[in-house]
Amino acid sequence: MALVETYAVLPFTLANGRGARVRDTHGREYWDLYGGHAVTLLGHSHAAVCAALRAQAERLTFYSNVAPLEIRERAAQRLAAFAPRGLGHVFFCNSGAEANENALKLALQQTGRRRLAAMAGGWHGRTLLALSVTTDEKITRPLDGLLCSALRLRPNVLEDLAQIDASIAAVIVEPILSIAGVIELTPEYRGALRRRCAEAGALLIFDEIQTGMGRLGRPLAAGEHDVLPDFVTLAKGIANGVPMGAVLMSDAVAAKVKQGDLGSTFGGGPLACAAMLAVLDTIEREDLCERAARLGRAMHERLRVGPVCEVLGRGCLIGLRLCRPAKDVQKALLERGFITGTSADPSVLRLMPPINTPDEAIEAVAGALAEC
Ligand SMILES: Cc1ncc(COP(=O)(O)O)c(C=O)c1O
Repeated sequence: MALVETYAVLPFTLANGRGARVRDTHGREYWDLYGGHAVTLLGHSHAAVCAALRAQAERLTFYSNVAPLEIRERAAQRLAAFAPRGLGHVFFCNSGAEANENALKLALQQTGRRRLAAMAGGWHGRTLLALSVTTDEKITRPLDGLLCSALRLRPNVLEDLAQIDASIAAVIVEPILSIAGVIELTPEYRGALRRRCAEAGALLIFDEIQTGMGRLGRPLAAGEHDVLPDFVTLAKGIANGVPMGAVLMSDAVAAKVKQGDLGSTFGGGPLACAAMLAVLDTIEREDLCERAARLGRAMHERLRVGPVCEVLGRGCLIGLRLCRPAKDVQKALLERGFITGTSADPSVLRLMPPINTPDEAIEAVAGALAEC
């Protein structure tokens, strides 16, 4: 095998996909409730994204940021308009880790401080700063001594916020900690976190790599309950599977960015921008934020069956707390034709389906869970 064997893989080879369905090389079909790893926000091979890619590939496949491009400018403006007011400045990159790395780096640079803070259980990526704020001993321990010092706060524990002091450059949080087991930060906690960061002079970063782009039933979690972070990081679903990341930042942060502080050869490439514009057009044209919210409500109503004792999360970021190991239920569902994800919590199975998944997929998985 030429590929380095670093992934635990599904027991079949995929051949193609359309919408929320994928098919393996033997012709067997699956409902993809894992959404291609929370990436295919509009489903596989979405017609509008394919058409935009085809047209842009023929017009201009690539030029780096050294050349101004109308499509890159338009993509930044559209993304800024999709975000709440106050996060109107955009830096494009290529992945979630790169988006977080750049947000954390800017925070360290602009505050002059040398410590970070994050949620215990948070997951932010595999580059050095992103890894410094990630909870996964398997991958952080071999790099002991190389990572940035980072305080860990318990999610939703208000008393821990007092530990955010003048040594902390930035606090990074997922509004819903996905990999940790779909743990939502309460509105009260988010408000208190925002106030504490402002008091301590620490910048607040919302990692919306999973929660963003309409998945929660609204454009972003940022702005909800009037809590506005200084940065939002995006990736995964932003261009429906074309590699892309973005850092959104406040006026105050952007005002301090000097030429040369940030950079990326491929960031904001025309193919990624074309795909992202098609994603935003489709979300708006088809009212897909509302659709994601409705799917979330349907999953809460329909999926407390079989081994499921609690439904967590909202929109199309759902955790099923099970009375059996999630791995066993994941396997049983796969045998019945459903791809799902596990989490760091051995009793939580995750569903991150496309935000335009048909209702029949929810009915079908409810039936399969009842059989498990
Ligand atoms: C919340 C969150 N942040 C960051 C990342 C890292 O993204 P990438 O794999 O694109 O580097 C992930 C990936 O799973 C993620 O779920």
